[in-house]
Amino acid sequence: MTNLSQDKASLLEVDGLSVEYRLKGVSLRAIDRVSFALQAGEAVGLVGESGSGKTTTAMAIAGLLSPNARVSGGQVRYRGNLLSIDNDAAMRPHRWTETSVVFQGAMNALNPVHRIIKQIAEPCILKLGMSRAEATARAREVLELVGIPTDRGTAYPHELSGGMRQRVMIAMALACRPSIIIGDEPTTALDVITQAQILKLLGKLRSQLNLALILITHDLSVVAESCDRVMIMYAGRIVEDGTVAEIFAKPKHPYTRLLIESIPNPASGKRIIRPIPGDPPNLMNRPSGCAFHPRCPSAMGVCATEVPSLEKFGWGRVACHLHRSSQEGRVAVHA
Ligand SMILES: Nc1ncnc2c1ncn2[C@@H]1O[C@H](COP(=O)(O)OP(=O)(O)OP(=O)(O)O)[C@@H](O)[C@H]1O
Ligand code: SF4
Ligand SMILES: [Mg+2]
Repeated sequence: MTNLSQDKASLLEVDGLSVEYRLKGVSLRAIDRVSFALQAGEAVGLVGESGSGKTTTAMAIAGLLSPNARVSGGQVRYRGNLLSIDNDAAMRPHRWTETSVVFQGAMNALNPVHRIIKQIAEPCILKLGMSRAEATARAREVLELVGIPTDRGTAYPHELSGGMRQRVMIAMALACRPSIIIGDEPTTALDVITQAQILKLLGKLRSQLNLALILITHDLSVVAESCDRVMIMYAGRIVEDGTVAEIFAKPKHPYTRLLIESIPNPASGKRIIRPIPGDPPNLMNRPSGCAFHPRCPSAMGVCATEVPSLEKFGWGRVACHLHRSSQEGRVAVHA
């Protein structure tokens, strides 16, 4: 497997993972040979436009794929052990205790008729076999960790603000002491200030608890502030992977470059969002060759016919015909 830090023993290894959805008798490949490794305590951003396969990747790792999904290839290992990601029963002991997912829109995920302390305690009872009293004590601990006074534990979800509810979701995700938290757009439904507070909280918890974080977002600027590394997805594939510093300073894939250019930067006088021309591809009718070629300003003849493979490039990886290998290592033929 090609990855950024393959020489270290990885917490999570995703190798050649493909997932297909069956819809009205038609099969749609939502992710295609996705490979990456995640180290303990590492924060990786997973970025791409709507439909690029971010949630499918996350759900597959957590064993939460919908019933019409099928793992059509690849494997996932946690601490070297193969996970049966397409077997809900086999994945149950893993979820919450090793990998937890925080979704956007906490109001939908929380049960409106139960006090939050009870909801946070529940996974500790179910997964760790704690007594009600032990689980409640643990729930108080994690409420404090996420900055909610423990006496607010008796509140019902509707009595809390959106930001507080998202903190509750994070507390619940932490309750069984997992090593990996996957945040699927965890701040999207929040205002900018609350969004910044939640991201700061995730960063603090990460260093305090040595948590690995996979942060899913369509917003590269969120990743810039919260992650060590970023993987860019397009049409179900990882097209670029590198450190945040590297990718922002010198993006190699044209799609990454356009994503960065689309971010408004008032400091440099760039106040408006510059959208990437064209639409994300229809996966039912995936473009030939490089899926980005109909929108790519640098497309060449080969781009419409050959799928570029994701290959090691310096510290990172890139899938683009503008970069090709030489005997000495990989060199860029175009900047
Ligand atoms: N349950 C499902 N059944 C059929 N197709 C699905 C299902 N879930 C996702 N898809 C399709 O799989 C592809 C990848 O979707 P996914 O939700 O993983 O993308 P995403 O990057 O998370 O997008 P978004 O930013 O909108 O959340 C899309 O084409 C989507 O329409
Ligand atoms: S492979 Fe070709 S079309 Fe795809 S991103 Fe690179 S230059 Fe553009
Ligand atoms: Mg999604």
